[in-house]
Amino acid sequence: SETKKIAVLAGDGIGPEVCDEAIKVLKAVGKIWGHNFQFSKGFVGAAAIGETGDPYPVETHSLCLNSDAILFGAIGDPKYDNDPNAKVRPEQGLLRMRKALGLYANIRPVTAYEALLDSSPLKHERIAGTDLVIFRELTGGIYFGKPSGRSENDLEAFDASLYSRQEIRRIAIKAFEAARKRKNKVTLVDKANVLATSRLWRDEVKDLHQREYADVELDYLFVDNAAMQLILNPSSFDVLLTENMFGDILSDEASVIGGSLGLLPSASVGDSSALYEPVHGSYPQAKGKNIANPIATILSAAMMLETSFDMVEEASLIRQAVQDSLNEGVGTEDLFKSNPSTTNEVGDYIAGKILEKEKV
Ligand code: IPM
Ligand code: MN
Repeated sequence: SETKKIAVLAGDGIGPEVCDEAIKVLKAVGKIWGHNFQFSKGFVGAAAIGETGDPYPVETHSLCLNSDAILFGAIGDPKYDNDPNAKVRPEQGLLRMRKALGLYANIRPVTAYEALLDSSPLKHERIAGTDLVIFRELTGGIYFGKPSGRSENDLEAFDASLYSRQEIRRIAIKAFEAARKRKNKVTLVDKANVLATSRLWRDEVKDLHQREYADVELDYLFVDNAAMQLILNPSSFDVLLTENMFGDILSDEASVIGGSLGLLPSASVGDSSALYEPVHGSYPQAKGKNIANPIATILSAAMMLETSFDMVEEASLIRQAVQDSLNEGVGTEDLFKSNPSTTNEVGDYIAGKILEKEKV
């Protein structure tokens, strides 16, 4: 079959370890279905600063442009966190990459797994049945607005937030399309009682809804209330649609529902490129210890198969294998404190489940 070129930007901290396990699982899928996945590594983040002085070097950008999909690990290094004035920071690489590749829609699904209902700090009965997805706008808003900086006298700082109708519309289309394949409901999260950008979001989303997606249920929540509803009644949500900064905050909050940040995958897509990465960060304390949870990255690989390659059955087999591992208590220490498996063991187990299919 046709070769799929996958750029692997493993990045910093535990990034390389979790990417290796996702590659292991993709290879198992390739073996069973006869797909040819070709992996090419590129530098990003602190690792790239070390190599080239740039957290998103031009070679990495070319590699991404020449690939069918990107698997991303994590970036960030304590060296930079403790120095807020550092001129070059790993995060800049991530933001530049999102912009340069036009990855405007960040998709973050949150599922409450049956086997983990008691590991969440939230009550079992509150989170049972949760299956939601956050559509976070990723290349606009306060993250990228100009002006941003300090006043000349250094007594003030400012970050402008700007959205165009077109930026809102293109991600809203993706959210409505996704809702049609799910529970057919979109909740727009904003702060329209205060912010002009939020009022533009409402305007544009309402208009699009009336004209093209009237069959989808649409409701609105102010972000402060949404933050509360998300932990009080998470199973009431289907698709949450929101701007860059609100989506950043709500997706970390929502991760608590699943029981561990180590479970949450994501996709960042645009009109041409697509990048798949775990929601968690580089977890530097765990680097090299073989204790990091690889499931978020493995599930990100499943999103890649489904979204970029239209390999729906393959993706669902990965998800099934992940469920099996959770049901059988095979997981890292963030999930199973008493008898944890290593990063490698979890990857081996999930890849093994997939390879078993051959025997059937
Ligand atoms: C995320 C991260 C990034 C963001 C940081 C590292 C710039 O928190 O992907 O959610 O804020 O977008
Ligand atoms: Mn974040």
